[in-house]
Amino acid sequence: MKSVDYETEFDLDAPDFPAKFDEVSQEVLTKCPIVQSPALGGYKVVFRDEDIRAVAKDWQTFSNRFGYEPNRNGDDNARLFPLEIDPPYQARWRSVLGTHLGARAVATKEPSIRAHVNDLINDFVGAGECEFVEAYASQLPGRMFFSTFLHVPLADLAYVQKATDEAVSLPIAAGESTEEYAERRQAGWNRVAEYLEEYMRKREEEPPRGDIVDSILQGVELDDGEQAPWKHKLFVMLDVLAGGMTTTTFVLAGLAHFLATHPEDRARLAADPSLHTNAIEELLRYYASILALGRTAMEDTEVGGCPVKKGEMLMLAYSVGCRDPQIYDRPNEIDIDRKISSNLAFGWGSHRCPGNSIARLQMRITMEELLRRVDGLELAGADSNQISHSTVTRNWDTLPVKFTPGAVESVEFVEEEV
Ligand code: HEM
Repeated sequence: MKSVDYETEFDLDAPDFPAKFDEVSQEVLTKCPIVQSPALGGYKVVFRDEDIRAVAKDWQTFSNRFGYEPNRNGDDNARLFPLEIDPPYQARWRSVLGTHLGARAVATKEPSIRAHVNDLINDFVGAGECEFVEAYASQLPGRMFFSTFLHVPLADLAYVQKATDEAVSLPIAAGESTEEYAERRQAGWNRVAEYLEEYMRKREEEPPRGDIVDSILQGVELDDGEQAPWKHKLFVMLDVLAGGMTTTTFVLAGLAHFLATHPEDRARLAADPSLHTNAIEELLRYYASILALGRTAMEDTEVGGCPVKKGEMLMLAYSVGCRDPQIYDRPNEIDIDRKISSNLAFGWGSHRCPGNSIARLQMRITMEELLRRVDGLELAGADSNQISHSTVTRNWDTLPVKFTPGAVESVEFVEEEV
């Protein structure tokens, strides 16, 4: 990206962006905080914390209903709700999700999540080495969601995970047109939607269990007072599933990367668990996994002094905003004592991530169990960890690590409360 003019040629999908993320972020934040991209039919990118928050909280001017990324295929088989709708309808779905994804409800899942964490660690702890993304970071979010929230067979997870990856995190291939790329991603969404639809139809026939699936099936009212159609319920299931997979994988890999590369912090965290909560906020900031998500301007307006035309798409680069030097001293460094008042990694305004408590809980349990069970964690090879980007997500592709071989422990899976 070095040779491009950021102001007019910035491309979220540029293949060399992931490797230069730290330096490019600082350059755009200090020199051109809003840029025009010619890619994917054209969009603007907003980088600064202050500008991102201003756009994200003004849903009347900056709507979500034209999609979360540029060139979003108009296919109505697999949309994401509440991400691709506006209040007040969006707020009614949020309140349904809040009942099951809020901090208090999520705390009841801790024993179940801890059992999955320890079961996954058992699979690699004796070997003294593993590829952490494959062995753990990509496994836990799906496992947790499938068995703790949906109660569907874990055997189906690999299929759904692959389709979700194609929909959310697949990078554009060399020589592929933007239309082909959009179609490939939509095909991934359609496969996840087919799977979830079959499961939801089955659940509709069964006695209610009082879980998130039942609440979604029960539905909410549209703005005109009619009941939300079946498809909207499916779109909510899709969003809850997809919203938590790649995003959480990235921060879990980030956590292992951090422990492997910061031995002094690691020793402090092992000795003093009261440091964990703050450290996790800092890791979520540093390893913010949403590269950018979109809004469409509903009128001619301006953002951070830059004119914006009605109909233009603005990508809010949350991951870059998390490195804003106006907010954070030494933004490209991890400082586990840094105080973060509100974490932009989860977005801002009416669409702020409803899954944040689950993500934080997976981070906390992972930190506790890695510190307890995996000694001497190190990277296995200097350049061996790989990060790629899609238009919207940062993806951790591989993270080979080594460590002192440890013992397998017995794990008791608990019957979760719904
Ligand atoms: C570290 C992990 C995660 C990160 C960094 C993250 C990030 C985000 C961000 C930035 C948004 C705001 C979207 C916008 O402003 O357009 C969002 C929305 C959302 N997230 Fe997450 N997320 C994470 C985990 C989860 C989990 C575990 C779930 C599900 C349980 C989830 C479900 C959702 C949903 C359904 C939305 C849409 C909310 C709405 O539009 O009202 N996320 N997430």
